[in-house]
Amino acid sequence: MEKKSYDMKTDLMQKLIPPALLLIVVLLLVNLLLYQYFNNAYFFYGQVNVEHNPCPHGYFRLGSLRNCTPWLSCEAIKREVRKLKRVGEGAVKRVFLSEWKENKVALSQLTVPELQKDFMHGLQMLKSLQSKHVVKLLGYCEEEFTVLTEYHPFGSLKNLNQILNLPKYKNSNMWQNRFLLAINYVSIIHYLHNSPLGTFVMCDSNDLEKVLSQYLLTSSFHIVVNDLDALPLVNKSAGELIKCGHQELQGEFVAPEQLWPYGNNIPFEDNLMPPYDEMTDIWKIPDVSNFLLGDVDGSDLVRFHLFGIHQACKKRPNERPSAKMVLDTYRNVLASLVRETVMPNTRDML
Ligand SMILES: Nc1ncnc2c1ncn2[C@@H]1O[C@H](COP(=O)(O)OP(=O)(O)O)[C@@H](O)[C@H]1O
Ligand SMILES: *[C@@H]1O[C@H](CO)[C@@H](O)[C@H](O)[C@H]1NC(C)=O
Ligand SMILES: [Mg+2]
Repeated sequence: MEKKSYDMKTDLMQKLIPPALLLIVVLLLVNLLLYQYFNNAYFFYGQVNVEHNPCPHGYFRLGSLRNCTPWLSCEAIKREVRKLKRVGEGAVKRVFLSEWKENKVALSQLTVPELQKDFMHGLQMLKSLQSKHVVKLLGYCEEEFTVLTEYHPFGSLKNLNQILNLPKYKNSNMWQNRFLLAINYVSIIHYLHNSPLGTFVMCDSNDLEKVLSQYLLTSSFHIVVNDLDALPLVNKSAGELIKCGHQELQGEFVAPEQLWPYGNNIPFEDNLMPPYDEMTDIWKIPDVSNFLLGDVDGSDLVRFHLFGIHQACKKRPNERPSAKMVLDTYRNVLASLVRETVMPNTRDML
């Protein structure tokens, strides 16, 4: 009797142990795989960029500092900020890497007095739209046409390919990370189109280089919008549309509704040019995403999956998807591609 129950026990154990062992081994392997997958230079998103305890309006917090500091005034900027070297220049601003209390900061100054209005609008927008999508404002001096912002050593988004080719970041140059940047870009467009102040259009965007130069690449490989000088407001309920400047626009990059519609025989006249809305930003998304996806293993597969939504972005203005729809599609495509790339291996193992 005693013997028999013992036999049954060992019998049972012998039957149960192999599957249990197998299960443990499989779990270990899956863990290892996931660990490698996520540890392999995969950008950790969602954590780095979330400030758990954001400062109130009119204050900022910089890297090493714990407390919120009020935006620096003219006096503080004059007293405490030291210009080091020029790092960028557009039509409106000249940008200097500078030092403030052992922090690197970016000091922007108006280039020519004629562009005061644009400069002041940009500053106003920087103040009102502070969020994780917008470069951090540290101070300003309206009398001197000076703005102080957080410095981003990678510079504008134009530098993306060079940065990702550096030995240090080469391992990060993969479709997953580049797709995350495209999602980041579209989420900024979505933010501008749905901001607390209304629908803004990113007008300083007549060619790809121009678009890219308005955004900065942070050292945690996020994108923030930096240049908000040409950001008009669309008010649909009041029927107020916009125009990006008063000059004739040309080329394939701008949306068709931004082109002079009356042909060569009638010369361009600003007051005859019909206004348009934020759908010009949607038209440009596929081109910006194409640049962000770049030319690495897998980016063509992503392009293939985005083909439909990108085609929709090139339709007539009122037939284009909203930024929210593009964003949702991007996120779904990413999720399904990540599932596909992790799962086949796990399935093989099982
Ligand atoms: N905070 C910053 N950190 C690093 N580089 C910057 C920063 N702000 C601007 N730059 C550089 O200066 C360039 C011009 O800045 P931008 O604000 O676009 O000027 P503009 O209004 O004249 O176009 C950017 O494209 C970027 O290369
Ligand atoms: C849009 O226009 C309406 C009517 O003129 C106005 O009440 C509203 O404040 C405007 N919205 C924005 C965001 O400016
Ligand atoms: Mg610019």
